[in-house]
Amino acid sequence: MAKKLRVGIIGAGGIVQVGHIPGFQKAPDVEVAAICDPNIAKAGAVAKKFGIPKTFADYRKMLQEKEINVISICSPNYFHKEQAIAALSSGRDVLCEKPVSMNSIETNEILKVVSKTNRKFMVAFPHRFSAVSTFLKKLISAGEFGQVYYARANCLRRRGIPGLGGWFTTKKLSGGGPLIDLGVHILDKTYWLMGAPKPVSVTGVTFQKFKKVATDGGWPPLETRHPGDKYDGAFDVEDLAAAFIRFDNGAALVLEASWAGNSETVLSYSLFGEKAGAREDAFGLTIFGEKAGVLTDTVASLPPVNVYDEEIKEFVSCIRADRPPITTPAQILAVSRILEGVYKSAATGKEVVF
Ligand SMILES: NC(=O)c1ccc[n+]([C@@H]2O[C@H](COP(=O)([O-])OP(=O)(O)OC[C@H]3O[C@@H](n4cnc5c(N)ncnc54)[C@H](O)[C@@H]3O)[C@@H](O)[C@H]2O)c1
Repeated sequence: MAKKLRVGIIGAGGIVQVGHIPGFQKAPDVEVAAICDPNIAKAGAVAKKFGIPKTFADYRKMLQEKEINVISICSPNYFHKEQAIAALSSGRDVLCEKPVSMNSIETNEILKVVSKTNRKFMVAFPHRFSAVSTFLKKLISAGEFGQVYYARANCLRRRGIPGLGGWFTTKKLSGGGPLIDLGVHILDKTYWLMGAPKPVSVTGVTFQKFKKVATDGGWPPLETRHPGDKYDGAFDVEDLAAAFIRFDNGAALVLEASWAGNSETVLSYSLFGEKAGAREDAFGLTIFGEKAGVLTDTVASLPPVNVYDEEIKEFVSCIRADRPPITTPAQILAVSRILEGVYKSAATGKEVVF
């Protein structure tokens, strides 16, 4: 019989209610056993909504519960490192929300503990689990694109600053703005589809132009918020970031992420391969190929999937099958170094060479 997994959740905000709790509760032989949040009223309300038996204000108290064998970290970014290290060191397998930490030094510290404890550690990148991602990964791994030598990725919002004045817009709690919040998703996805080459250098720029006219970006979703949450105040992060990233195999990636800008709102990427290319945007996936000397545009028709459920299934399955998670330590570190490199390059006005 499959080992029963009992999950303790850290943080009772938007993503746990939209993704983690429903995902774990749908998985067989998995129980969401406890949830903690320093805002104990919020933990209580979420526990009641989802039928979670125990609540805690302090995650360290929750870690004392012997029957909990899995921890899901869904707190603001600043707390990920400390909580991941504590959970791994106490023998738990860990699913950690993106970004894994505030910078590459912290990420290295976590990965050292992963290696020492030999626990499963997966970073929550739901975009890897869309039907399109799964399909493209299969095609690219089978060599149908040849080398993917160039890619463009953008995640742009015209007006969509999340939780204005809350932790998202406070650098010491978030580590940065849309780059570390949204850009990380599309960066991880394109970089993974490109075959996860090693980054060698980054040039980046950041801007902050919309502080005064920022609007609430709809995240966290209204129904997941606590009446006491504040949505006005600090804003010391960028609202737009752009970067040029070079890899050791000669490939390059152009990345853009914004919470606000006078542009279209878009989530899209293009992959340029030697034999074929692809673009995914709001209209779907198009594969650019050539057959019998004719250029072909193939439109893929794929069934929608719940990416959060798929992400949780993958995490549960790697624990059960005792296999490495889809996010490898080298990939986790590479993404972390790229994000940090963009911020460093933007601050110094120079290319950052790793
Ligand atoms: N994978 C995705 O698609 C996705 C989407 C949104 C957010 N996220 C990530 O999930 C994490 C949480 O984001 P969110 O949108 O749920 O934020 P949120 O603001 O809705 O919720 C965060 C919760 O953490 C609690 N908290 C504050 N300090 C804490 C601490 N020290 N320990 C435990 N909990 C604490 C807050 O009280 C709040 O309830 C972030 O790392 C974010 O980047 C991922």
